[in-house]
Amino acid sequence: MKKPQNHILVIFGASGDLTFRKLVPAVFDLFTQNVLPEHFAILGLGRTQLSDDDFRSKMKEGIEKFALNHKNMAQNDALDHFLQKLFYHGFNTKEEGDYGGLKDRLFELDGQLGTDENFIFYLATPPSMYTVIPCHLAKHGLSNEEKGFRRLIVEKPFGYDLETAKELNASLLNNFDEEQIYRIDHYLGKEIVQNLLVTRFSNAIYEPLWNRNYVSHVEITSSESIGVGNRGGYYEGSGALRDMVQNHLLLLAGLVGMEPPALIDSNSIRNEIVKVLQSLRPIKEEDVEKYVIRGQYVALL
Ligand SMILES: NC(=O)c1ccc[n+]([C@@H]2O[C@H](COP(=O)([O-])OP(=O)(O)OC[C@H]3O[C@@H](n4cnc5c(N)ncnc54)[C@H](OP(=O)(O)O)[C@@H]3O)[C@@H](O)[C@H]2O)c1
Repeated sequence: MKKPQNHILVIFGASGDLTFRKLVPAVFDLFTQNVLPEHFAILGLGRTQLSDDDFRSKMKEGIEKFALNHKNMAQNDALDHFLQKLFYHGFNTKEEGDYGGLKDRLFELDGQLGTDENFIFYLATPPSMYTVIPCHLAKHGLSNEEKGFRRLIVEKPFGYDLETAKELNASLLNNFDEEQIYRIDHYLGKEIVQNLLVTRFSNAIYEPLWNRNYVSHVEITSSESIGVGNRGGYYEGSGALRDMVQNHLLLLAGLVGMEPPALIDSNSIRNEIVKVLQSLRPIKEEDVEKYVIRGQYVALL
């Protein structure tokens, strides 16, 4: 498998839950599968003051709990080797003046590690920072691709509604080009979702049957094994419809219903998904009650 180019993954919000439970354990899994480039590092950022060693021991705990490959770690020194690739820089995300120090640290690491000035910026902060950070990065020349590549990854939620999503998009495009921006929906990376395309288009039994002549309707069930947990505050604000349906489940509907893409690349797949979404019949406001049942569990205290 071809490895990606050398780079530094810069995580904003590295003291948070997403970095601890998902991002760093997932990157560690890539490391144990030997698909990371030879010269690679993670630079974690946040206002919380941590040393490199503090960050490494916190991430070690996350990897031990959440990485897929953690069970094999006792047999080798992969974890120690990986942890040496982690660094931390404490700074205030909101303060434009702090970005000069970030830039210095980034280029210092780049010089030491030989990462060819390729930087990926991952926004794992509260959404209120999604417009602020790219703007400050651009002002400090960190979106400029004269030498290495510069990419920006934005976690969901992508805006609160159509209007705020458009505003966010416009703001990102003021500072980075479309080809540099990656809007992440981690649902599409799930193995079962990835297998859907293979099942549909490479399976001689399903492929000829997967059409309106043989399928009467499609029902998508999202069955969660864990509850809201301690994310009640977040969930009360966003709601299940925004958190799950308009992103994850509509994209699943797209993958289930789309025609085969001309090429297996992101643009071709996206274009086919868009065609499915454009052909969905919007539910008029007066028909919502006819087609939608909504409910909320009441917690048993
Ligand atoms: N957790 C998940 O499973 C999950 C799943 C999908 C999407 N997301 C999204 O990913 C993002 C991060 O989620 P999370 O669960 O990791 O959140 P979190 O635990 O609250 O962490 C966010 C981090 O952002 C940093 N931060 C930077 N600027 C900040 C500011 N002005 N105000 C508050 N915090 C600031 C904080 O670190 P410092 O205090 O050190 O600066 C904090 O540790 C959110 O947008 C969330 O909606 C999370």
